Amino acid sequence: MASEKSLLRILSCGSVDDGKSTLIGRILHDCGTLYEDQLRQLEKERTHEGLPDFSCLLDGLLAEREQAITIDVAYRSFRTETRRYIVADAPGHEQYTRNMVTGASNSDVALLLIDATRVNDGFLPQTIRHTLIASLIGIPDIVVAVNKMDQLDFSQSVFEEIEKVYREKIRKLPFRSVTCIPVSALRGDNVCIRSEKTPWYTGQTLLDVLEGLEPPDHASAPFCMPVQWVARQQDFRGLSGTVLSGAVGTNNKVLLLPSGRQSTIRRIATYDGDLLSAAEGQAVCLQLDDDVDAGRGEVVVDVSAPLEMADQFAARMIWLNDPPLVSGRNYIFRQGTSETAATISELSLRFDLDSMQEQPAKELKPNDIGQIKLALNRPVPFMPYAKHRDMGSFLLIDRITGNTVGAGLIEHGLYRSHTIHWHNFELNKAAQADLKHQKPCVLWFTGLSASGKSTLADMVAKMLYAENRHVYILDGDNLRHGLNRDLGFKEADRAENIRRASEVARLMVDAGLIVLASFISPYQRDRIAVRERFEDGEFFEIFVDTPIEVCVERDPKGLYAQALAGKIPNFTGISAPFEAPEKPDLHLDGRKRPEELLDEVMRFIADRATS
Ligand code: ADX
Repeated sequence: MASEKSLLRILSCGSVDDGKSTLIGRILHDCGTLYEDQLRQLEKERTHEGLPDFSCLLDGLLAEREQAITIDVAYRSFRTETRRYIVADAPGHEQYTRNMVTGASNSDVALLLIDATRVNDGFLPQTIRHTLIASLIGIPDIVVAVNKMDQLDFSQSVFEEIEKVYREKIRKLPFRSVTCIPVSALRGDNVCIRSEKTPWYTGQTLLDVLEGLEPPDHASAPFCMPVQWVARQQDFRGLSGTVLSGAVGTNNKVLLLPSGRQSTIRRIATYDGDLLSAAEGQAVCLQLDDDVDAGRGEVVVDVSAPLEMADQFAARMIWLNDPPLVSGRNYIFRQGTSETAATISELSLRFDLDSMQEQPAKELKPNDIGQIKLALNRPVPFMPYAKHRDMGSFLLIDRITGNTVGAGLIEHGLYRSHTIHWHNFELNKAAQADLKHQKPCVLWFTGLSASGKSTLADMVAKMLYAENRHVYILDGDNLRHGLNRDLGFKEADRAENIRRASEVARLMVDAGLIVLASFISPYQRDRIAVRERFEDGEFFEIFVDTPIEVCVERDPKGLYAQALAGKIPNFTGISAPFEAPEKPDLHLDGRKRPEELLDEVMRFIADRATS
C-alpha cells in the first residue's frame, strides 16, 4: 500500500445558499469516514492556549473570543484511503468575512462554491472577495465547485461561461492552480463519482483533484516560539510557549526578541518529561543557560534566524468590524502574545472588487481590503507574511470597544524604521523646564465649536504669562491655516488633525512649555491616543461642556446658522458626532461665566498640573 499523503486542510467558502453544507455532507457521505471524536479533539485543541496548528491570527482572536469562533467556524475531519482532511467551514454571510480569515489562516486549499443558478447578473461580491482573501492569505490552490448544475440540465455552455468569466476576473491573483468543476452537491455528480450527465467535462472529480494536491511545505521555516508565560519554581525558570515553526534542540543558541539577548538552551521540559529537541506544534518550557530575564511577549528564535525588527510596516489589511479604519487613528496592535500601540500612518489603497484594482481611499469599511502603512510605539520582531504566517500577521483592536477590527498581513518593514533614530539631546526636556522654572504640560481643551475653548485658553495663557510662565496656545482654527491646511472635517481628516496637533504639543512640552491646546477633537479614540503620547502627569483633558443649544445661540462665526441650513457638511454637533469625554481630568460647565471657568482652571493647574 502506498504511504499516506500528508494532511490537507480545506477552507470551504462561498455565499449563503451556494450549497456548501450539502457539498461537504456529500463528500463525507460518499467518500470519507467522519471522525466525530477527531472533530471534538480539534475543538479542544483550538481552545487550549498555545495550540499547535492554528496561526497567530486565530490565536489572537481565540484569546479574545474563544466561543464566538468555535461556533462560527466549524471544523470537520474525514479520511479517505489516501489521506486525512480537515475542512474549515466559514459561514458565507458578508459579515462573516472575519470567520473566513480566521478559518483560512492555516488552510492549504480553498474550496469555493458558486451557485450556477445565480450567476446571471454577475458574480456575487462575496465570491470574488473570498477568492481575493484566499489569495492574500497565501492559499496556493483554489478549487471551484460550480454547483447546482442539475438545475441547469448540466449545461456545458453555462459552466464554460462561468469558468471563463471567473478566470478572467481573478487572473491577476497569483494562485498555483485554479480548477473549476461542474457539480451537483445534492446528487453527487462529479463530487466523488464522475457524472454521466457531463460527458463534455474531461477534468477530474472534486475528490480526485483534492487527493492530488500537495500541501505547501512549511518545514523550512526557522525556529520561532513566542513566550506565553514564564514558569517559576525554586530552582527552575523556564519560558513556556508553543513552537510556531522550525525546531530547536538542547545546546542550541537562541536569541530573544525584541530585547536582543542571547542564550543557550539547557533543557526542554514538557508535561511528559524532558526532550532533546522540539518541533513545530509542541508546547514546551525552555530553560536557558543563564537566567535571562524574559517575559510574555518576547519571541525566542534561532540566532541565525532571519527575523527582522521594525516599528513601521507596509501591510495588507482586511477590515473586519466597525468602526471603519481611518488614517491617523491609533489602535492596539496585537501579534501573538505581544501588544503595542499603532497609528495608521497612511491608508494607501482600497481594493475595488468590481474593477479588481486598487484605488485611493479615505477609509476601510468592514469587509474591505486595503493597503496601509502603520507606525508602532516600539519595534517588534516580524517576518513578511509570505515567509511566515504567524510572525507576519497581526490584529488591530479598537481602543474603546475592545473589538478586533482588522486582520493585517505584513508585506515588509519600512526602510525608514531602521534609518531614522530618535536623538537624545543633552539640552533635554528637564533642562528646558529647569531654565523656565516650570513643569511642562499640555492642557487639552475639548468641546463643541463655540463652546468657549479658545476664549478660555486665551485667558488662562494670559494669567500664566503674568505669573512668568512660558506658555503657547495651539488652536485648531490657527493650525488649520498652516500645518493642517490640507485637512478637512471628515473623520479621517480630524484624526490626522489631532495626531499632528498632539505631535506639535509633544515637541513644545519637550521644549519646556505649558501648552494650551484647543481643538474640538470630537472622537474619543483620537483623544485617548493623544494622552498616550505623553508621560503621566503631562497631559490633562479639560472638557468644556457647553450644550449645543447654547453654542448655536452664541454662534460667533455664524457657522451654526450655515450648518443648520445644510451649507457646511460634517459639522460637529449638527451633522457630525461629538463623543463627550467619559472621564476628563477637569469637567467645566460651559454655561458659566468665563471668569468663573478661569478660576476653576487656575485652581486645577495649581493643584494638579504644576505642583
Ligand atoms: S477638529 O474636529 O479637527 O478638532 P478643529 O478644532 O481643528 O476641529 O477646528 C474646528 C474649527 O473649524 C471650528 O471652531 C470652526 O471654526 C471650524 N469649522 C469649519 N468647518 C467645521 C466643521 N464641519 N465642523 C466643525 N468645525 C468646523
